[in-house]
Amino acid sequence: MNHNKKIELINISKKYSDNLGNMSVLKDVSFSISQGEFVCIVGPSGGGKSTLLKILAGLDSKYTGTIVNNPKRIGFVFQNFALFPWLDVTANIGFGLKMKGLDKTQILSKTREEIKRMGLVGFEKSHPKQLSGGMKQRVGIARALAINPDVLLLDEPFSALDEITARKLREDLNKIWSQTDCTVIMVTHLVEEAVELADKIVVMTSLPGRVHKIIENKLARPRNKRSKAFFNLVDSIEDII
Ligand SMILES: Nc1ncnc2c1ncn2[C@@H]1O[C@H](COP(=O)(O)OP(=O)(O)OP(=O)(O)O)[C@@H](O)[C@H]1O
Ligand SMILES: [Mg+2]
Repeated sequence: MNHNKKIELINISKKYSDNLGNMSVLKDVSFSISQGEFVCIVGPSGGGKSTLLKILAGLDSKYTGTIVNNPKRIGFVFQNFALFPWLDVTANIGFGLKMKGLDKTQILSKTREEIKRMGLVGFEKSHPKQLSGGMKQRVGIARALAINPDVLLLDEPFSALDEITARKLREDLNKIWSQTDCTVIMVTHLVEEAVELADKIVVMTSLPGRVHKIIENKLARPRNKRSKAFFNLVDSIEDII
């Protein structure tokens, strides 16, 4: 990917239609994402955030508007992990590589790397049902990273986890992001999570989802969650929502 290329969303709108009529879910959503940026999307439940992420991932092509420099290689992390129950950890992580037609040696070497990076050593042969929620999401993230994505999309990745597990995974994600040049776009309903992680916070409205405000988060990293500046930023965003 050209490092100067910004992804630009221009007037993205989306309607779901059924026999009862049309429902406008997204209305003229526009914002840009720089290479390597960590963007968080926050907003009320049902406001079209997951829909927007699916559009970005190319999983939904029924929208109007333009995406400039739409990323090609995308890793997607789901709220409910979405692992393949019949595959072990190694095969889950290697799934995308197998789809790409890589040979066994290449897949094994890359999955080993991700297993190490995500703290899954010793669980290679485990199946999803044998794993805790936190470990399952580690596999979900490892699977998304295995394809060396230009952009990592995460839809409320920690919301099904207890706070202590979520905190550790948040730290790990932050570390991985800072060590790679991967662009991250994450949906979260936790303003505090967005302020901890993001360079840019896109605050959306309720249905139909529009961009309410874009906040450039200039707080120095690593972020001190106990600082007054941190509290103030969280407060000001919660006031908007
Ligand atoms: N496949 C679909 N067909 C019809 N309507 C849908 C479909 N998917 C989502 N919707 C509707 O679109 C709206 C936006 O849904 P979406 O899942 O994008 O919101 P969200 O902001 O991610 O919500 P949450 O914060 O609860 O996850 C909701 O009203 C939902 O019911
Ligand atoms: Mg959602």
